[in-house]
Amino acid sequence: MLKLKVPATTANLGPGFDTLGMALELYNTLEVTKIEEGLEIIIEGYGADELPIDEKNLVYQAMNKVFKKTCYYPSGLRLRLSNQVPLARGLGSSATAIVAGMVAANKLTGEKLSTEELLNLATRLEGHPDNVAPALLGGIVVSTLQDKGRVMYEKIAVPELKVVVCIPDYQVSTTEAREVLPKKVDFADAIFNVSHTALLITGLLNQDYDLVGRALEDRLHQPYRQKLLPGFNKLVNKVDKNALGVVLSGSGPTVIALTLDKEEQIGEEMVSIFTEEGIEANYLVTSPTNQG
Ligand code: HSE
Repeated sequence: MLKLKVPATTANLGPGFDTLGMALELYNTLEVTKIEEGLEIIIEGYGADELPIDEKNLVYQAMNKVFKKTCYYPSGLRLRLSNQVPLARGLGSSATAIVAGMVAANKLTGEKLSTEELLNLATRLEGHPDNVAPALLGGIVVSTLQDKGRVMYEKIAVPELKVVVCIPDYQVSTTEAREVLPKKVDFADAIFNVSHTALLITGLLNQDYDLVGRALEDRLHQPYRQKLLPGFNKLVNKVDKNALGVVLSGSGPTVIALTLDKEEQIGEEMVSIFTEEGIEANYLVTSPTNQG
């Protein structure tokens, strides 16, 4: 039996749209057992009543990509998924499924594919690299999808920060959250995001958390996605005073606050702002992790 755990991820980190992602201390676990024939899928935790338990399951689809590429076909498989990462909330649940499936399948083949090949394959299935890269590698990963489907990336060690993760009780699919984005952006907004992303990475590398906080601004996606998340502006304005910064986690609707302290107070404040908007939400306090 093979067992592995893959972290949740928070993508974008404000200005780094489709470029930055960070692994969090919150994991989905996958157990794979070879059986004589067929496919058995057991799901515990998030998605137990929602996710398919046949060939359409994303973990299995991801495994299949590796099997096809390496010409390895197991006679039968039993998969047990224990999911702690909520679905369609902007915490990279699909990336954890893809990475778990691909890493497990690669282990079954005797590690025929390299980490780079797995990352390229995972990105092709996910569509963008910023969740699958930290899910696979851990840490904060700066990544970009190049021509020919290759991912260029660099991992940064995680900062000594707390992450308050505030999760509204409704789902927003990434597809839906990408549909509200414009086809073209203003040149000044593009410059704003390039400069803020560069400053954010500099702050992270130098452990200059004041700079990290000031760089967490975005003009490429959050302004357009606010319509999917009532209260987001209020959250940013109010909670920013106690935290280093507040940003949408991936494509939302989860919102994260990066902070050095007062994490419980920040979490309660975030929940109460959502409550004022008529949205139920809960929060958890976690940390970035270097483990992928
Ligand atoms: N970069 C992606 C987006 C992340 O914002 O659409 C999705 O989790």
